[in-house]
Amino acid sequence: MVIHASELDAPVVPLFENGDRQVRRAVMREIAALGPVARTDIGFAAVQYESVVKVLRDKRWHSAVGFAAQFAGVTDEEFLSRRRISILSAEGDTHVRLRRLVAPAFSPRSADRLRPFMREVVNGLLEPHTASGTVEFVSAVCEPYPIPIICELLGAPKSDWQMFSGWATDVLRVFNGTLVEDLPVIMKAQDELGEYVRGLIAERRDKPADDLLTDLIVAEESGDRLTTDELVMMVEAVIVGGTDTTRNQLGLCLAVFLDHPDQWAMLADDPGLAPRAVEETMRYFGAVNGTIRYASEDIEMDGVLYPKGTFMSTSLGTANFDDSVFPGAGTFDITREPVGSPHMSFGSGIHYCLGASLARAELQEALTILPRRMPGIARAGATVMKPATTAIFGPAAMALSFDPGH
Ligand code: HEM
Repeated sequence: MVIHASELDAPVVPLFENGDRQVRRAVMREIAALGPVARTDIGFAAVQYESVVKVLRDKRWHSAVGFAAQFAGVTDEEFLSRRRISILSAEGDTHVRLRRLVAPAFSPRSADRLRPFMREVVNGLLEPHTASGTVEFVSAVCEPYPIPIICELLGAPKSDWQMFSGWATDVLRVFNGTLVEDLPVIMKAQDELGEYVRGLIAERRDKPADDLLTDLIVAEESGDRLTTDELVMMVEAVIVGGTDTTRNQLGLCLAVFLDHPDQWAMLADDPGLAPRAVEETMRYFGAVNGTIRYASEDIEMDGVLYPKGTFMSTSLGTANFDDSVFPGAGTFDITREPVGSPHMSFGSGIHYCLGASLARAELQEALTILPRRMPGIARAGATVMKPATTAIFGPAAMALSFDPGH
């Protein structure tokens, strides 16, 4: 028997206006224990590992990420039309085509090329603080870390990093919850960045180099290539998708290790554990807690009919705590044996994080260096977390002390 979604007897996810993520996680785990799907203020939410995977792998559920602006009350037509071609929200053949063209440029091998540079950046950012053994870790390391790497990846010259960083900050205001006020600044940054990237593209067309932009320019499948507009869109997607996520995830990694100093020491002794430590911290505390889809047609799923247009959130953070997939899910353990089912913090299905190899490499390199150079880390003040509703979540400030001189 199939019932209409409006008749579904399911718990309601409360609005977590404030409050910390630990509280939110506990509430969500209780809700997930009651069934695969819950109700939200705008529709429904998949809350168990299996239902989250099911929604994200079902192509009838389309990305609603592009609706973020409308949700925030933006009506500016020009701004709304800019978002339509993003890979983050494209669907069907358009998405398949984009993904096919760009995927090779985001391979693990491409990310590996940057590992020596990543090490240089991490060491350089930490260096000024090792003598004193104190650091405000978010502004000193997390925030700057991804910018030179994205610039190096794209092939933007070092002299332009500061400029690039400013654009990235402004473009990323889309996630600040103040979108309507910030719209002029965001659009200005998009325009300037667009113009800058067009310049870089023209240079690379004349003189190809060993970088992502050149890879994207020459990317070709069956005679098909990315247009200049699509190249600009991809660069913006790399900035939007790859900057704030990585810096918040690194901050969360440190926040988790502060509560588990024994595992930080273990990692310092055995840096070979870094890849597992990255997977476990991402499972335990992912910077992207959820994503959202809408029904592109009437969808029947597990005996429930969700009418076309229904919004379905997917709680990645709750799926990561599903005991049936991750035994003893509440325990943080960097020696956890990898299970067949990976954590959900990079998503799943066709929109699975395009930059996952790069993000993994960045975090692995950081977690290889930091435990050795910052032994004995401890909080040197309150850790200030971003508001719990922030789409890309992490610490806003985190003062640390550690044994100096390493
Ligand atoms: C730890 C860091 C990161 C996390 C937690 C993360 C998380 C995610 C998640 C959850 C999605 C899926 C969104 C959805 O299904 O709606 C996604 C997609 C995406 N990410 Fe990441 N990401 C990270 C780093 C990066 C990096 C470094 C880049 C770029 C270099 C990047 C670029 C993208 C792009 C372009 C997409 C859209 C892919 C598509 O729609 O086909 N991400 N990311």
